[in-house]
Amino acid sequence: MVRVPIEVFRGGAGTPNRFDKFELELEEHTPILTALLKIRDEIDPTLAARYSCRQAICGSCAVRVNGKSRLACVTQVGPELAKRGKLRIEPMGNQPVLRDLVVDQKPFWDRYHRIEPYLIPDPAHPMPVGKENPMSPEQVAQFQETPRCIACASCFSACPALDSDPDFLGPMALAKLFRFVVDPRDGAFHQRLETVQNQSLWLCLRCNLCVEACPKDVRPAERIVDLKWMANQEIGKREAGSKHSIGFAENIQEGGVLNERRLAMDSLGLLGTLGQLPKAITMMRHGRSIKKHPPIQGREQLDVIYNAMSGREDLQHRPMSGEGGVRGKAPPPTPPAASPPAATAPTAAKPRPSGETKEAHP
Ligand code: SF4
Ligand code: SF4
Ligand code: FES
Repeated sequence: MVRVPIEVFRGGAGTPNRFDKFELELEEHTPILTALLKIRDEIDPTLAARYSCRQAICGSCAVRVNGKSRLACVTQVGPELAKRGKLRIEPMGNQPVLRDLVVDQKPFWDRYHRIEPYLIPDPAHPMPVGKENPMSPEQVAQFQETPRCIACASCFSACPALDSDPDFLGPMALAKLFRFVVDPRDGAFHQRLETVQNQSLWLCLRCNLCVEACPKDVRPAERIVDLKWMANQEIGKREAGSKHSIGFAENIQEGGVLNERRLAMDSLGLLGTLGQLPKAITMMRHGRSIKKHPPIQGREQLDVIYNAMSGREDLQHRPMSGEGGVRGKAPPPTPPAASPPAATAPTAAKPRPSGETKEAHP
């Protein structure tokens, strides 16, 4: 047993914000949720915390432990104690506190609903009624890690971009959007990418904090990169983010070194670039050169890298449609049991009840 000092955030519901201090004797492997429930049962019955499954499935118990988003039911006391000599438990970030460790998840779920998290039928290819609409194992694999998400909002809590722009959809909603964008049964592929490209795709700061926070290794930041690539392929240069991204790649490929003047023109156009002149002058005063550099020695070796990247057999470099593409055709529906026999039917995604299009769990 070890002595564990615990500071727990208290507040919300009209009470002043503060940290209450407790001390418990616990085994090092004790889950933090168990410690909180011990405080509630034995010391202070007014402590509010949210939980349900106690086995990392429901996502309800997420809190911040020593500043990091964690599932309280599977995070053990010992390793966290070793980091700071105490446990500081706070409610999740980017969501208003209702009481103590319980937050109002509305900002999280509002963003999730904005992505229309269900299959949108394609009128040209209606779903078979009363039959399976199977996918090949390769198509299911395109979802990457997204089905693992338990909607715990740990990534949402950790994301700094939500602070700076309320329009940003956040890591979980964008990871879920990716899941529908790569689903060949979904009919809103273009519309989804177009909406997200104009709305918030490029507001991600690429800090990777969502990847670090996610207890299920969904890696939302990687799915955001996938979405950016797909939006560039499908929609092309549309607004500053995609123009900047495509311009950056072309810029480096051309000379092996960044030509910032050209990049500004590619991203912002003439008027936008002129608007950046005061910033450019300040940068030059501080010794930053924005002159055009000559191509680097051995620039042609970059072609090898660019070519190798364009031939990679991963999602980002597959064709967008056709056999083997991200949006490749689904295998034919499973035929009726009578003919041919079920044993010859294609193996694919698990059967769905007739007409069901929503995920069983968000
Ligand atoms: S990588 Fe993007 S989505 Fe993830 S936490 Fe950072 S800003 Fe948010
Ligand atoms: S992506 Fe990970 S951290 Fe974010 S809600 Fe899903 S499981 Fe939680
Ligand atoms: S209580 Fe369900 S995930 Fe922790």
